[in-house]
Amino acid sequence: MNDLRLGIVGCGAISEWHARALKKASRTNVVACIDPVAERAQHLASLTGGAACASLKDALTLGLDAVALLVPHHLHEKLALESFEAGMHVALEKPMSTDLASCERILSAAARDTTKVFMLAENAQYWPEVIAARLLIDQGAIGDVFTARAWHHHGPPKEFYPDSDSWRFSAEASGGGVALDTGSHWIRPLRMVLGEIDEVVGITGRLWDEMEGESLVRSLLRFSNGTTASFDVILAKGAVALQPHFQFSGTKGEIVITVMGEVLLFDGKDWQGTCVHRGNYMDSYAGVWQDFEAAVLDGKPLEADAQYSLGEIRTAQAIVRSGSTRQWERVWG
Ligand SMILES: NC(=O)c1ccc[n+]([C@@H]2O[C@H](COP(=O)([O-])OP(=O)(O)OC[C@H]3O[C@@H](n4cnc5c(N)ncnc54)[C@H](O)[C@@H]3O)[C@@H](O)[C@H]2O)c1
Repeated sequence: MNDLRLGIVGCGAISEWHARALKKASRTNVVACIDPVAERAQHLASLTGGAACASLKDALTLGLDAVALLVPHHLHEKLALESFEAGMHVALEKPMSTDLASCERILSAAARDTTKVFMLAENAQYWPEVIAARLLIDQGAIGDVFTARAWHHHGPPKEFYPDSDSWRFSAEASGGGVALDTGSHWIRPLRMVLGEIDEVVGITGRLWDEMEGESLVRSLLRFSNGTTASFDVILAKGAVALQPHFQFSGTKGEIVITVMGEVLLFDGKDWQGTCVHRGNYMDSYAGVWQDFEAAVLDGKPLEADAQYSLGEIRTAQAIVRSGSTRQWERVWG
């Protein structure tokens, strides 16, 4: 196969971000843009050159190798199973599904054909600042990391929360609240740097009446290697101050990832830190497609297998449990 013929299933808010990122995956052609809402399918088709289709079934007649599933969480399982059945390589947006039983069904369906790639498209895996920070840490720039901090306090963007009927406000459709949804992009980098999370303790709250799940999370995570991190994610009600996305503290210094995309190294040379890298979160989406393309066309292993993403779901769920029990909760049962 020379080029990858991709169908984009779900032409909503995130699809335009992916369409832009796909321009950096030079061997992938968008052949179909699929959405039951015709104007959304047509809009994405006009951006990508694909054909607008009303359903995955219709699009399959065009000849697809792979699909990108960019639909609300409660539709992930149905469309993933339909795609596997049709022999597609599949890139599925996070989280894999709304609950672990559904994730297991997806994983076992994917495992039936090992010649096909199944990617769980967690873009934080390819976040350039995180990759730069991890490299520095691996090189010993701040010594042994003993603690870290991840912070995300952001208002609801209109594109993702268009109105009070948004599926994100329904616990059934979304599978929870911000811990699972936005939180996964902050939990993944912590896991990439510090390893697996054993147990968590947290408080959760609801700042938005219309949202059934939590919109406030403050938590502590304990990792298998003995380190701890704080992880906070809040769907802001008002204006917010700029805080770093991440801070890693080691025995020799610190690394901070700012919201402006800088990676600052504090190693005692400059009290304001030295900017060692400047990246852009938006480039993480291109990373998704470059990795997927290389896995499908060149047989390269994915940076992270789909199963790995269960760590974000389990961590989010354990934090929510801890919010009720007021106890430390184990992530892996
Ligand atoms: N990685 C990120 O940064 C990020 C950001 C936002 C959303 N997401 C994820 O992307 C996914 C979609 O989120 P969104 O914000 O774009 O949602 P959205 O509601 O804006 O778009 C979803 C689209 O799916 C369409 N759809 C529904 N049923 C369909 C079907 N059977 N076939 C084809 N299309 C169908 C809807 O009509 C809608 O246009 C979710 O998994 C979400 O968590 C990821």
